[in-house]
Amino acid sequence: MPDKKTYYITTPIYYPSGNMHIGHTYTTVAADTMARFKKMQGYDTYFLTGLDEHGQKIEKKAQEAGVTPQAYVDEIAEATKDLWKLMDIQYDDFIRTSEERHMRVVQKIFKQFYDQGDIYKAEYEGMYCTPCESFWTATQLVDKDGEKVCPDCGRPCQPMKEESYFFRMSKYQDWMIRYIEKHPDFIQPASRANEMLSNFLRPGLQDLCVSRTSVKWGVPVDFDPKHTVYVWIDALSNYISALGYMTDHDALFRKYWPADVHLVGKEIVRFHTIYWPIMLHALGLPLPKQVFGHGWLLFGMDKMSKSKGNTVYPGPIVARYGVDTLRYYLMREMPFGADGNYTNESFLTRANADLANDLGNLVSRTVAMIEKYFDGVVPAWDENAVDAELDLPLRDHCAALPALVEEQMNKLQFSQALVEIWKVIGECNKYIDATQPWVLGRDPEKRGRLGNVLLTLAECIRFVAVLIGPVMPHTPARIFEQLGVTDEGLRTWESLSRFGLLPAGVKVCKGDALFPRLDVKKELEALAAEKKAEQKAAPAPRKEEKKEAKKAELPEGCVSIDEFFRCKLRVAKVIGCERVQKSEKLLKFDLDLGTERRTILSGIAKFYEPEYLVGKNLVIIANLPPRKMMGIESNGMILSAVQEKEDGSEYLRVLTVDGDIAPGSEVG
Ligand code: ME8
Ligand code: MG
Repeated sequence: MPDKKTYYITTPIYYPSGNMHIGHTYTTVAADTMARFKKMQGYDTYFLTGLDEHGQKIEKKAQEAGVTPQAYVDEIAEATKDLWKLMDIQYDDFIRTSEERHMRVVQKIFKQFYDQGDIYKAEYEGMYCTPCESFWTATQLVDKDGEKVCPDCGRPCQPMKEESYFFRMSKYQDWMIRYIEKHPDFIQPASRANEMLSNFLRPGLQDLCVSRTSVKWGVPVDFDPKHTVYVWIDALSNYISALGYMTDHDALFRKYWPADVHLVGKEIVRFHTIYWPIMLHALGLPLPKQVFGHGWLLFGMDKMSKSKGNTVYPGPIVARYGVDTLRYYLMREMPFGADGNYTNESFLTRANADLANDLGNLVSRTVAMIEKYFDGVVPAWDENAVDAELDLPLRDHCAALPALVEEQMNKLQFSQALVEIWKVIGECNKYIDATQPWVLGRDPEKRGRLGNVLLTLAECIRFVAVLIGPVMPHTPARIFEQLGVTDEGLRTWESLSRFGLLPAGVKVCKGDALFPRLDVKKELEALAAEKKAEQKAAPAPRKEEKKEAKKAELPEGCVSIDEFFRCKLRVAKVIGCERVQKSEKLLKFDLDLGTERRTILSGIAKFYEPEYLVGKNLVIIANLPPRKMMGIESNGMILSAVQEKEDGSEYLRVLTVDGDIAPGSEVG
């Protein structure tokens, strides 16, 4: 027999600088869902997750907590494993970069790069902030009263030389460009491939700093021990060190590499689609087949993040509503690739609409009717009681469902896969309304017809139960129990190859509602109360001083400086920019304001290709009231200059800022 096809999927290894929140849970649930789906289809799967434990940030956190870095990360590693258990994550391995097995491989990789001439040592001169222990380049420093100071703490810096190893990324740049161009599936969604090409690769790659002398908590460079390996070589190597690469027990590596897909959040796509492939190429290894950069779970306008503290944790949600409800929400709410807002409202609304109403009711109505009309025994199919117009479309649609789901899953479109399943659920509910079993039940002559209706529904539910399994691992068993499907062979992917395998005679068994209806208002209050209890009394936000415009007499046509300053002008870095569908005028900007993310719409589509603007530092008015256009809320305005040409047409250019300045900087 030929070996089973393999499928290797990974999540990023997360920083244990705090406990994992719903954002990390999102990626991990997606990877778990995919692994379960492939396993169900018969693949030999391997699913890796873990923690990225080294670096200055962890060093600092541990110091603040008064423990060693190792003790600090050990505790978070335990909590992370507990969380994945709670979320029913079935990973095959959990790699931690502080483990020997990983560090040894990183050292070997680093040495090989050095021996091959891919890594060189250089001394680079810059400014050092002693209290922050941070090294800054001249352009990163901030000007304060004529003195160059640390951008973090504002204190003066001293000139300093730091010796570092650098990876010659530039050497591989052209190869990388060609690779991406030739492999359109390598970076998904495809828009991110364009971003990589036009923002980073085509403008030219800088060599990458790959060691530090000031960070002790890291993998020591074995041939030059005052250096530790800096961030990305350490972190990215996890995907192969976990498989035993460069060891004498590399069976997993030989079996599973190259990975089928690395799932990552969009902010680290660059590292996974430029630096990582270049490292692999330099090692003579094949590249992962795909890197998928998914969107962010936002909280209000902001990315949820450990460092911002605006986080939602899965624990309380799972405790109240169960793990399947949360997993369903995460996979259903936003298309994989796009950003989406987490709100308790949307969570509760979806749980009610899709789970309690659509799915839950379908199962409970069907089971109840089989109990009522057939003493709980699934009736036999009656060839003479077929209503071709009503039965066949549903049966055909349901028979086609596995292929539709597979197609979406192979594109990692979890949300779309669920939409396909819920179309059949919706159709079943309509079928009940159209066939009116309660009317059929009154007429003994319609018994065959009634039986066919209920058998069709039961079989559709069986299909649905199998297909939701990868997303909702607990629910299928609960449905099968109610349907009386005890035969394991009817719970498999293969058993969906034909519609109509559910045998007559199985005994249904009404159980508790699969998903109880939630009282949204009550639940919102309860969740808010829990959150409040969890938060330590945070200091009240400082009230903005009201700067009243001076009432002094002003020359005609003038504004006072105070009036002018009521406009908050800010530097905003363009993270993403795209055309608004069905609009000729509008571009939608995804902007970084330093401490927050914003969406702003601007009517300048005639004048720019969206790609051109990505990465630019624009100037915006940040305190305009929100305004909705084409169904999208815009929060602010992008400043631009407009010139009227001789032919009466307009020419427009946006305002950009000279030089590299932090997003969010005040303009005025
Ligand atoms: O970047 N929405 O670790 P990290 C969606 N150690 N996904 C989110 C998210 C959110 N709000 N917040 C986190 C690192 N994630 C490095 C990675 S890999 C070799 C090294 C998920 O702790 C998402 O997958 O900052 C994101 O890429 C990852 O967590 C970042 O985790
Ligand atoms: Mg991060």
